[in-house]
Amino acid sequence: MSGMAKSKIWIAAASLPLLASCGGGAGEAGPLDEVAVTARSAPVAQEFQQKLKAQLVAALTNSGPESAVSVCSQVAPAIAATASEESGAEVSRIARRNRNPDAGVPAAMQSQYDALAAQPLSDGKPAVQIWRSGEGENARIHYLSAIPMQDQPCSVCHGTAVDPALKQHIDSLYPGDLATGFKPGDLRGAMLISWKADAFQ
Ligand code: HEC
Repeated sequence: MSGMAKSKIWIAAASLPLLASCGGGAGEAGPLDEVAVTARSAPVAQEFQQKLKAQLVAALTNSGPESAVSVCSQVAPAIAATASEESGAEVSRIARRNRNPDAGVPAAMQSQYDALAAQPLSDGKPAVQIWRSGEGENARIHYLSAIPMQDQPCSVCHGTAVDPALKQHIDSLYPGDLATGFKPGDLRGAMLISWKADAFQ
């Protein structure tokens, strides 16, 4: 979720073929076309983050952080569901230090997530990992894009000095919340755009 001006830079960054990758490679299914995967995935990730941030900022401005928490918890899954329907990919956010316990990093994606955590920004832009998993009907292509922590508005709810009353409210909704204490530039989480591999044949 970035500002409008920044978002344009992110689109440009994500369109570059200079992406870190791992796995995949030439196998029976042929080489992974990272440019094609990026061309279809980056706009989906971008739109999700822009829509959510717009609603988050509006809620923070109009009704304060406690209501914005509810907006985030209801709106984020709804936007993800719409993005999944419209794109044909599975769209979600994942995070190791998560707020929503359903948003954990799947075991099979730890190494890709580690790579993003080690270097959330690449040339000042969110880092991306693209890889293939599974075989035959289960073959999937994954696009995982870093969500770096930003000061505003993210610190209000994920920062190092979250207001205690707000934190209490968050804890009442998410008793196992792990998603505070982030500093700008840390990896807050990642956008996962996951396709059936035959979407690229
Ligand atoms: C008003 C409080 C609030 C603000 C501000 C906020 N978030 Fe969140 N964030 C939440 C809540 C609540 C959730 C859990 C949503 C859910 O239930 O899916 C969440 C979840 C997330 C997740 C999904 C993984 C997880 O931990 O569950 C990411 C990634 C994330 N936020 C990043 C950000 C970023 C980046 C910003 C700044 C652009 C930001 N958030 C601003 C409240 C906030």
